[in-house]
Amino acid sequence: GKGNYRHFMMKEIAEQPTVIGDTLQAFMNPLERRIQLPNLPIDLAKISRLTIVACGTAHLAGFVAKYWLESIARLPVDLDVASEFRYRQAPMDPNGAMLVISQSGETADTLAALRYAKSLGQKVISVLNVPESTIGRESDLVLHTLAGPEIGVASTKAFSTQLVVLACLALATARARGAIDAAREAALSAALTEVPARVAEILNHDAHLKEIALKVAEARDVLFLGRGTSYPIALEGALKLKEISYIHAEGYAAGEMKHGPIALIDENVPVIVVAPTDELFDKTFSNLQEVMARGGRVVFLSDADGVRKLGNQAMAVVELPKVDPFVAPILYTIPVQLLAYHAAIAKGTDVDQPRNLAKSVTVE
Ligand code: F6R
Repeated sequence: GKGNYRHFMMKEIAEQPTVIGDTLQAFMNPLERRIQLPNLPIDLAKISRLTIVACGTAHLAGFVAKYWLESIARLPVDLDVASEFRYRQAPMDPNGAMLVISQSGETADTLAALRYAKSLGQKVISVLNVPESTIGRESDLVLHTLAGPEIGVASTKAFSTQLVVLACLALATARARGAIDAAREAALSAALTEVPARVAEILNHDAHLKEIALKVAEARDVLFLGRGTSYPIALEGALKLKEISYIHAEGYAAGEMKHGPIALIDENVPVIVVAPTDELFDKTFSNLQEVMARGGRVVFLSDADGVRKLGNQAMAVVELPKVDPFVAPILYTIPVQLLAYHAAIAKGTDVDQPRNLAKSVTVE
């Protein structure tokens, strides 16, 4: 049941410290304090390319994984939505492998993409919340997200646990390929270990995010901006907001603003900026100043260093804990989920069962 919560979605958001911790533990060797994956059907050191395919929110988890696997593990990654990939007759590298991501394990397009890859002789690893599913049965190996049953149609804890599994995969791949030294691997593993506690801290910002959501809910259009691994989180924030509050929202790579979307900016458009202080922060910050110069009302998600730099120029500021940039996308997921949830409540929509949507999309 929903326990003390009004909606499954809020219950599932609140479960994240626990289920992220459970998922991490399943892939962490406690003695060596390092990531340990089960025996894989492929040699991570030797594959030439990984093709990641999924739908919706799961696709956006794959988008973060592409950034991690390319930058940390030096593995080339192709990424696509399953409904495009499956019909494209894409050639696949004989030394490549496929990764599919799905909460339900039953999504028709994702399954079809898996079958296409297998028909070309690719090994398939899947990241699934329901291992005893059709995709689970047809995969060479399942990496299990331990999110537990997800009832709310909007994916929340499945997404954050997918990110955790994919972060573990990125570290294991980096080690196998000699792309990371032991000290850096230990630092990134330690940063992952801290995530459950940091997520719990962020959940304490709920009342503040609710206040911000009341302002966001008055808008007809909302933009989300980010760079690097914050870009897929901007896309996820926009997807969550539109699917449960029915407010039109778009996520954009911050650097793309000046190539068109900046024309939309005025005082009626809230712009939610996902901006942990990482190596791209200064670039995002100058995009934010361009937005403010055009009257855009900024909701700034950053850490103490970022907040200090901005001063009080934004409509709203949410100060998140300062963490290694590697784990920032996992943490910055939480405020965009809470913004969408409270905006939907303000709009009076059916949060757990938004119109026109099904939890598991088993039709093409
Ligand atoms: C959005 C959402 C959907 C699913 C998508 C894939 O909140 O839940 O976009 O992520 O339908 O579903 P799975 O992960 O079951 O393949």
